Amino acid sequence: MNLRIKEDLMTSTSAGASSKEVSFITSRRGLLKGLGGFMAAVGLGSLFYGLYRFLAPGGGSLPSLEIPLNKINAEGFYTFQHGGLPGIVMQDEDGSLQAFSLVCTHLACTVAWKPEKKEFYCPCHDAIFDAQGRVLSGPPPSPLERWNIQVKNDKVLIGIV
Ligand code: FES
Repeated sequence: MNLRIKEDLMTSTSAGASSKEVSFITSRRGLLKGLGGFMAAVGLGSLFYGLYRFLAPGGGSLPSLEIPLNKINAEGFYTFQHGGLPGIVMQDEDGSLQAFSLVCTHLACTVAWKPEKKEFYCPCHDAIFDAQGRVLSGPPPSPLERWNIQVKNDKVLIGIV
């Protein structure tokens, strides 16, 4: 047994690298190959998912959400969660409806509807959006996402694409 270890050391030192170094290099190569394969798989997955979202009609969209009209409160709104996203459906004084994502377009905090001021407020960086979701102040780069709605049989259908 001792003789075998000595032989290994002698052989490896004469070759310029010990057997431990060789196995380390082999495993490091394996690790790099594995990381490279993983990165390629993630990149391809992202590419195909983006392509799927772009090409498939309604692909990747959430199914419509049905909200009974009577859920809209006296202040003219109803907040909900759909597919993990907070949203709001609002009814104007003229009876028209609109729905928005309550995800701030800055860093994705949840904004709150302030009916007394008729504006959305993001507490994370003091941003304000108007009742149409447009940015009034603060760092958000774009308006709140507006969702498609349809009214059918006393229900609001909210389509999130
Ligand atoms: S996350 Fe809303 S303003 Fe920054």
